[in-house]
Amino acid sequence: MTGQDWVLADAFDRAAPTYDAMVALSPGYHDQLRTAAEALVGRMPLASGGRRAAVLDLGCGSGASTRAVLEAWAAAGRDPATLEVTGVDASEGMVDQARAKTWPGGVEFVVADAVTHLRTLPDASVDGVLGAYLLRNVPDRAELVAEVGRVLRPGGAFAVHDYSVAGSVRARAIWAAVCHGIIIPLAVVKRSDVPLHRYLYTSVRDFDSVERICERLQSAGLADVRHRSYPGWQDGVVHTIVGSAPA
Ligand SMILES: C[S@@+](CC[C@H](N)C(=O)[O-])C[C@H]1O[C@@H](n2cnc3c(N)ncnc32)[C@H](O)[C@@H]1O
Repeated sequence: MTGQDWVLADAFDRAAPTYDAMVALSPGYHDQLRTAAEALVGRMPLASGGRRAAVLDLGCGSGASTRAVLEAWAAAGRDPATLEVTGVDASEGMVDQARAKTWPGGVEFVVADAVTHLRTLPDASVDGVLGAYLLRNVPDRAELVAEVGRVLRPGGAFAVHDYSVAGSVRARAIWAAVCHGIIIPLAVVKRSDVPLHRYLYTSVRDFDSVERICERLQSAGLADVRHRSYPGWQDGVVHTIVGSAPA
């Protein structure tokens, strides 16, 4: 891991015990994760030959996105016994929070850097990958997306869910106003991890535009790349981008 990864994992370790309470303050957080997971599951073909579909939840954190995958799977009328989900996160503290929750069989959590974990997997061995609030944090985004493209089975899907404001003056202004007017002051008042909240602001400000994320997926060989945003202040700020490995 690079020094930057170490610091970030360390910051998430510190935030881990209060992470769920923190995201509970973010309107629509869980509903939007669920929508992203539904977009992923909706693209995934039924696994053949009696094997379980393999899904990676990269940057799974405390398991909110992992839970969203399970819920989306059930909502699509798919048998929970036909799914296995591996949550991968660089922060041991976040994975500890995830592991402390109750999960059905077929769900496991791994403490690892996302790219490092992907490199251990064979070509065409995974049916779906969710990266919720992950890509922005990864130093080598091109490599992460290329590795996802490599491990996906034909017909498999990749969903990226994250803040992205670079492509819109309006979205950049909203993001600056929300961070400087609410998120960072709230972190100060609640004696939360202020540097992590400042990092949230700058990492989103400096992240790819939605168009650039779409290009990244296309460059990795993914097809039918589409994106959507969400209502409210997050319109044009929070996005889900999904693409499929050609069948
Ligand atoms: C904002 S949290 C999102 C957690 C979860 N996906 C959710 O939607 O609630 C981002 C997570 O990505 C993890 N992360 C950041 N960089 C990572 C990397 N290179 N590899 C694996 N995990 C990483 C952090 O430790 C953190 O738990």
